[in-house]
Amino acid sequence: MDPLAAIAAEVQACRACPLWKGTTQAVPGEGSGESGIFFLGEAPGFHEDQQGRPFVGAAGQLLAELLAGIGLDRSKVFITNVVRHRPPGNRDPLPDEVAACDIWLRRHLDALQPRVLVTLGRHAMGKFFPGESISRIHGKPRVVGGVTVFPMFHPAAALRQPSLRPSLMADFTALAIFLATTPAVADEPAPPADQMTLFGR
Ligand code: URA
Repeated sequence: MDPLAAIAAEVQACRACPLWKGTTQAVPGEGSGESGIFFLGEAPGFHEDQQGRPFVGAAGQLLAELLAGIGLDRSKVFITNVVRHRPPGNRDPLPDEVAACDIWLRRHLDALQPRVLVTLGRHAMGKFFPGESISRIHGKPRVVGGVTVFPMFHPAAALRQPSLRPSLMADFTALAIFLATTPAVADEPAPPADQMTLFGR
């Protein structure tokens, strides 16, 4: 079986935290490793829960536009979230829920070995840069545990606050430049998932 399909089937059966209760289904993530870009968002919302796909609402539309702006189709990137079941009422995911879902992030990173992991919003950023401010570090890639992590504002934040949109566009341009100027062949491949010390625990 395709490794992403195998992970998706396991995520559907995941009961590691109580979030699955009351959801329609899990939203494991989708896309491909073709471009080497891996997006990590926050959590599925109503439409994502209904469709079982990440970023299918307005934020997803903006994400697709930003990708098109750097010449990429969404099918060429991988997109997932820090939690894979919709939190009730779209509340923020709780630390225990985020921690319980780490296993799937590790599995996806191990399967895809991305060139760059783009965190969208403060919840995803917080996994790699705890205590940091997104306003301070967005657009500045840093290698964490063998993976280049590129923090960005969440597209939903730019929809709520249009003044953030130029920053988001500039960060996508910086991402395109990073990819164009960084060798595709990893000099130092990411360690296997069970040896990662990515999340500070
Ligand atoms: N926002 C997210 O962070 N993830 C989704 O899947 C949709 C909206």
